Amino acid sequence: MSSAARPSALSQVLSGQWQPSPPIWMMRQAGRYLPEYREIRERAGSFLKLCLTPDLATEVTLQPIRRFGLDAAILFSDILVVPMALGQTVSFNAGEGPQLSPLMDHDAILRLPRQLDLNALAPIFETIRLVRKALPSSVALLGFCGAPWTLATYMVAGASTGDHAPARLLAYRERQVFASLIDVLVDASIDYLVAQFKAGVDAVQIFDSWAGILPPHQFQCWCIEPAARILAGVKARVPDAKIIGFPRGAGTMLPTYVEQVAVDAVGLDWTIDLAFARDHIQSRRPIQGNLDPLVLVAGGDALDQSVDVVLDAFAARPFIFNLGHGILPETPIANVERMIARVRGHCG
Ligand code: CP3
Repeated sequence: MSSAARPSALSQVLSGQWQPSPPIWMMRQAGRYLPEYREIRERAGSFLKLCLTPDLATEVTLQPIRRFGLDAAILFSDILVVPMALGQTVSFNAGEGPQLSPLMDHDAILRLPRQLDLNALAPIFETIRLVRKALPSSVALLGFCGAPWTLATYMVAGASTGDHAPARLLAYRERQVFASLIDVLVDASIDYLVAQFKAGVDAVQIFDSWAGILPPHQFQCWCIEPAARILAGVKARVPDAKIIGFPRGAGTMLPTYVEQVAVDAVGLDWTIDLAFARDHIQSRRPIQGNLDPLVLVAGGDALDQSVDVVLDAFAARPFIFNLGHGILPETPIANVERMIARVRGHCG
């Protein structure tokens, strides 16, 4: 944990304390919409090399903080470094998204190591140490991992064609085999998140980007139960760990998620009914979200109005302003500045 004299605004919200001006950060805030990111990305050669070179990863993690003065930095890395450290081949090809050697057969899944090799991820822990040293204590540093279900969709399908059918079919046809993959990922996630806390992150986010495509009973087995086990496992070893859950698209399953998963805050995408979220989720837990990333591309009055709608719904109780999913590469920087000024202008 950081040795901050006073906890950051984001850490305070994660402890349930309301802030008159909500802290703000953006998912994928270090990325292709920034010219300074594109320059370093080119210098690194490959995306994975950028993730695994501490000096460069530190630099791109800090870029959006320097430019916008956001309340949190998020470690620059990717959720797919975990399958990589479990021995899967992972590559990122421009315009194609990630490619993995698919884990289609039982043997490949049953051969996965039962334990994550943390040494393979050592450069990431070094990045965390460097970033934490460079940041003032008022800015929180977030680590993250992919949730087991979301990682499994990529690990089973191999390519990122947005095809979740291979993982869903495996879960239906070979329930035990699929469950053993989820078990490996639960244990790996616990070890990985604990190591991130030991290296200096203030909080972590669990990205379950594909939570919203499952029927409720499958959501229960493959999203809620693994997340609950990760929460219990991390908090047993780091009792004051702060954890944000982001089960994207969970919709009406969200109240069940917050009842059963001890997250300190829950991230919302932009499709949720705001009154429902306020009455059934924010009444129990701080929330984070949920501006449509496309209105940030559009800008103008539509952006101002959308920011106000989110603030009106959520800013009266513990709240972290964010987008409902990652910032899009075509987002104009002026629109980001406009959004931040409007959020900062709000004072409860
Ligand atoms: O938020 C941040 O600024 C921190 C860095 C971060 C990245 N990926 C960098 C990245 C984080 C937190 C992620 C999480 C991630 N990665 C998720 C969960 C969140 C989500 O967006 O749903 C997922 C599903 C992935 C897997 C992944 N990584 C995909 C599908 C892709 C290709 C799509 C794309 O946007 O290009 C990536 C690549 C990726 N991860 C990029 C970045 C900045 C772009 C690669 C590049 O710059 O060449």
